[in-house]
Amino acid sequence: MAQRDGFTSTFGVLVATLGSAVGLGNIWKFPYLTGTNGGAGFLLVYLLATLLVGLPVMIAEIMLGRTARANAVSSFEILSPRQPFWKSIGYMGLVAAVLILAFYTEVAGWVFAYVVKSLTGALGHTDPVAAKATFGALVSSPAQALLWQWLVLALTGGIIMLGVSKGIEAAAKKLMPLLFLLLIALCVRSLTLPGAAEGLRFLFAPDFTKINTGVLLTALGLAFFKLSIGMGTMLTYGSYFRPEQNIPTTAARVMLADLSVSLLAGMAIFPAVFAFGFEPAAGPSLVFMTIPAVFDSMPGGSIFMTLFFVLTAVASLGAILSILEVPVAMMTERWSWSRRKATLATLAVIALLGAPASLSQSLTQHWTLFGLNAFDLFDYLSSNVLLPLGGILICLFVGWHYGLPRLRAGLSNDGALDNGKLVGALFVLLRYISPLLIVIVMFKAIGAF
Ligand code: PFF
Repeated sequence: MAQRDGFTSTFGVLVATLGSAVGLGNIWKFPYLTGTNGGAGFLLVYLLATLLVGLPVMIAEIMLGRTARANAVSSFEILSPRQPFWKSIGYMGLVAAVLILAFYTEVAGWVFAYVVKSLTGALGHTDPVAAKATFGALVSSPAQALLWQWLVLALTGGIIMLGVSKGIEAAAKKLMPLLFLLLIALCVRSLTLPGAAEGLRFLFAPDFTKINTGVLLTALGLAFFKLSIGMGTMLTYGSYFRPEQNIPTTAARVMLADLSVSLLAGMAIFPAVFAFGFEPAAGPSLVFMTIPAVFDSMPGGSIFMTLFFVLTAVASLGAILSILEVPVAMMTERWSWSRRKATLATLAVIALLGAPASLSQSLTQHWTLFGLNAFDLFDYLSSNVLLPLGGILICLFVGWHYGLPRLRAGLSNDGALDNGKLVGALFVLLRYISPLLIVIVMFKAIGAF
């Protein structure tokens, strides 16, 4: 049998895992949800969800993948051969992967479109009305929305067919630090705009009256989405981890770096929102309107603006590749399909399902379910339903079935690492606290109490 592909160095593992976590979630979703959910209170709940639920689930997922060395479905078969139920976690992850990709590739398409727009000088304005019109023209044009999404699908397909270590590692390794630096520069500009303080207050001074059940569920869903957990992505990446990799340390570093990128994006955006008179609760268009305005107000802005959208596009590709890896690893390992065939099949499904999402501001805008159009529905179902459900099941699997001794062995690299206390605390979180918190938030959200 061919040897499984894997990451080639421990640093490569860190960067590729970070490549999955950092993406549109940081630059697009985190700011827009913080804006629509009232600012600092949301950020606080998001932080708690990340620490008490996100990080433990991430560590557990990576550990399960590295122990089983298989895709998200087969891993549960291998680790629990007598209880076939658990592999439904993998199948749920498959559904979540397809739903996320259906709208995520659309947003990535907007980023690509903004690369071109920034090159042609179409974005040079700080006026909220003009910025809104530019974004509106893009998303309400069926042809543009579809074509940009298809471009993204074609690009990712090409990269993934090159294989795990070559495609993903290479792209992620080089560009992440640049994005970080550019965000810092953006923050400096945004924070020195007149009126910036109000943006900082919005982001960091919580107004607890704004925290309601919807805010709790959205923050929890974002924590899952941000860390790429609850759907088998981190499990699949874990299966490529090296045996000597320190999983808790790697996961904590990824979480911290991911959080820093989100906070930087927030600090680049909100001061500018208030300085220029944008609407913090503008929704998915927030980043696309505000960021060009910040660049427009700095020297050499147009060049940096292009660079920013290029880097964001690359970051989104890293995340997309990691999501695609869930179905592709499953099909290649379970059905012996080639990577090419598995990738193409997945992309075809996403193109079909993605079309109503990308057309949800135009042709399919009246196709709604529970009051949500296709774009919002796919987002809601994946982030707020499937990922937290997957999270509960992973907690229950590890906390009540897999057990502490095996968790210890997996996370201490069979005794090579001295992290017994840490694993003990993690086990308490996974067995009781994290699943309980998810259950409470989900039940509250459906109005059960
Ligand atoms: N974490 C990615 C982001 O924040 O952009 C999105 C993502 C990647 C979600 C992988 C889920 C996943 F499995």
